[in-house]
Amino acid sequence: MKFDNILTRMIGTKYPIIQGAFGMPGTGDSRLAVPVSEAGGLGILTAISFKDPDMFQEDLRIAKSKTDKPIAVNFSILHETKFVEDYFDDFLKITLDEGVETVFTSAYTVSNIGKAVKDAGGTWIHKCATIRHALSIEKKGADAVVIVGLEGTGFKNPDQHTTLINITAGRKLIKIPIIAAGGIGDGRGFVAALAAGAAGVYMGTAFMATKEYQAKDKLKNKIINRDITDPEYIKKLHKIDHDVKPSFASGVVDSVLPIKEFIDKIIKEAEEVMDEFKKFGMLK
Ligand SMILES: Cc1cc2nc3c(=O)[nH]c(=O)nc-3n(C[C@H](O)[C@H](O)[C@H](O)COP(=O)(O)O)c2cc1C
Repeated sequence: MKFDNILTRMIGTKYPIIQGAFGMPGTGDSRLAVPVSEAGGLGILTAISFKDPDMFQEDLRIAKSKTDKPIAVNFSILHETKFVEDYFDDFLKITLDEGVETVFTSAYTVSNIGKAVKDAGGTWIHKCATIRHALSIEKKGADAVVIVGLEGTGFKNPDQHTTLINITAGRKLIKIPIIAAGGIGDGRGFVAALAAGAAGVYMGTAFMATKEYQAKDKLKNKIINRDITDPEYIKKLHKIDHDVKPSFASGVVDSVLPIKEFIDKIIKEAEEVMDEFKKFGMLK
């Protein structure tokens, strides 16, 4: 099955599957991004996971030497960086000079980064956690928007909208492509997001459980063995504050795989689900 849609054409990938940003040092770099891009998704280098612009440039060059597929860059505008207007200037210059075509911003709004990317002829995608912010970023000229639902990791959506509602309700209000995030980690979630009206999916937690993610096996095993019905876990997930929260995607990923196998598995499962639909006459 060919997954060719508005998003794959926009970001130049085989599949509408995007690896989430990881801001912790040693996680959001080429060791994760390259295998994702090589496997047909879009790998992202996360600027804040590098100590300084030189280290970022070095890793971006490594990424480019290891794959001829697109690699994107994320600028996460956190509390600390929000108030330092030129914080990302050097990183942004490197990104554009090195020919990166797709740039993600996340958390706070940063129209200056978006504008610079657009002026350079690139694609600007913003990630936020509410439909309200998605509408505002559309007005500011973003090409697409990722909306993270209540199920996902990150700064919690104060509106408590789920991934499904962000897409189905968001679709009626937002004209630019919406990318679904939050709680996705298998082929069923992928198909469900596309069926709801998303142009693609964006996954964080699920990629943490891959072989290439830079963390101890203990953490990966914890993710794949998580009991998402545990009341304590549920309580943590619903708390709205500025801590990064766990995700219900933990209940979806069930094995630690190399990234290529993980993405192939999602596509295979998606094809099986579509075949099931066809068999029962649910799809023409
Ligand atoms: C350990 C960890 C670190 C993250 N760091 C960032 C970050 O620096 N910037 C950002 O925009 N998102 C960050 N995220 C959020 C992911 O990019 C993504 O939006 C989220 O994981 C999607 O939900 P899911 O985990 O249910 O797939 C992080 C997620 C995790 C799990």
